[in-house]
Amino acid sequence: MFDVFTIGSAVRDIFARSNDVIYKKGSEFPAGEGACFSLDSKLTLDEVNFYVGGGAVNTATTFANQGFKVAPIMTVGNDPEGEYIKKVCAKAKLSLDFVSTDKNHSTSFSFIFSLPSGARTIFRYQGASWFLKPSTIPWSKLNAKWLYVNHLAGESHDILPRLLKTAKKSGMKIAWNPGSTQFERRQEVVPLLAYADVCIVNQEEAALLTGIPYTKQGAIFRKLDELVRGFVIMTKGPDGVEVSDGKMIWSAGILPMDKIVDRTGAGDAFGSGFIAALMRKPDDIEHAIQFASANATGVLTQWGAMNGLLKKRDELFKWGKLEIRKTSL
Ligand SMILES: Nc1ncnc2c1ncn2[C@@H]1O[C@H](COP(=O)(O)OP(=O)(O)OP(=O)(O)O)[C@@H](O)[C@H]1O
Ligand SMILES: [Mg+2]
Repeated sequence: MFDVFTIGSAVRDIFARSNDVIYKKGSEFPAGEGACFSLDSKLTLDEVNFYVGGGAVNTATTFANQGFKVAPIMTVGNDPEGEYIKKVCAKAKLSLDFVSTDKNHSTSFSFIFSLPSGARTIFRYQGASWFLKPSTIPWSKLNAKWLYVNHLAGESHDILPRLLKTAKKSGMKIAWNPGSTQFERRQEVVPLLAYADVCIVNQEEAALLTGIPYTKQGAIFRKLDELVRGFVIMTKGPDGVEVSDGKMIWSAGILPMDKIVDRTGAGDAFGSGFIAALMRKPDDIEHAIQFASANATGVLTQWGAMNGLLKKRDELFKWGKLEIRKTSL
């Protein structure tokens, strides 16, 4: 039997950095700033790194690193990139029993393009991960202690009601980190939040899910605590994290580190780290926050979303001890 299932995307990630790209401010860019390069020219990529990512893979790797038996539920394309992802997963000791192949779509792919300043743009090909089909899941075998649900993108969203019901029926605990498709289909998602023992969102996502402006943190927590049966985790990037159980709120900042190399996968590392710690010490929220932060910090200090995740023998206080405040809501 597995300790945990993760479900979500499996992505081939290529990171590249170029000094030949010009930074420009301009109202034509939605964010007010853009990266420009000349047409009809050959530009140099100064650094290229090839990795594997996606929510299902990233979070499963945390659990495997901690010695848990884990199976990611995900789909890859019928192509060499899909084969490569499977090879990397097998090496990380993830079970391939629940990995399916989509004959109609290529493997999901991200090109993560950085400027010399560290600013970045992600080119994303949706691919097979957008089409995870209920028929590819061996439903009768879905039994473990925990289910970790990542962004179920595009058509994969339709799996959610059956997935959550099946998991609850077989006594699994559910952690849920919803993604953009879930926020686009918020009306369907809100009633399903009652299935979550732990709901993990960042500040913007919490605002999207509740429809409350993200500056009104108290109101957001009250709303989410009403909807989610268990804990609500709100990550706040460089401002740390807040965790609520509906009665108490735990707040923490971040761990000090020399330099952020790449922020891809920080959220996945935090959420999966929190659950891995709870699996070991179910009632120790402070330990879970410390472990999750160290797991995220590890990822921030290395390229790629799987590298830097804590290993079982790593020192929990490698980057120091977080100060955690506990107050009543
Ligand atoms: N710039 C940073 N400095 C220090 N720690 C950080 C930074 N960014 C993120 N973290 C750590 O990682 C956690 C999760 O980060 P964040 O809130 O950015 O998640 P996210 O928005 O879900 O990220 P992702 O884009 O990976 O989904 C934070 O709570 C914090 O502990
Ligand atoms: Mg996230």
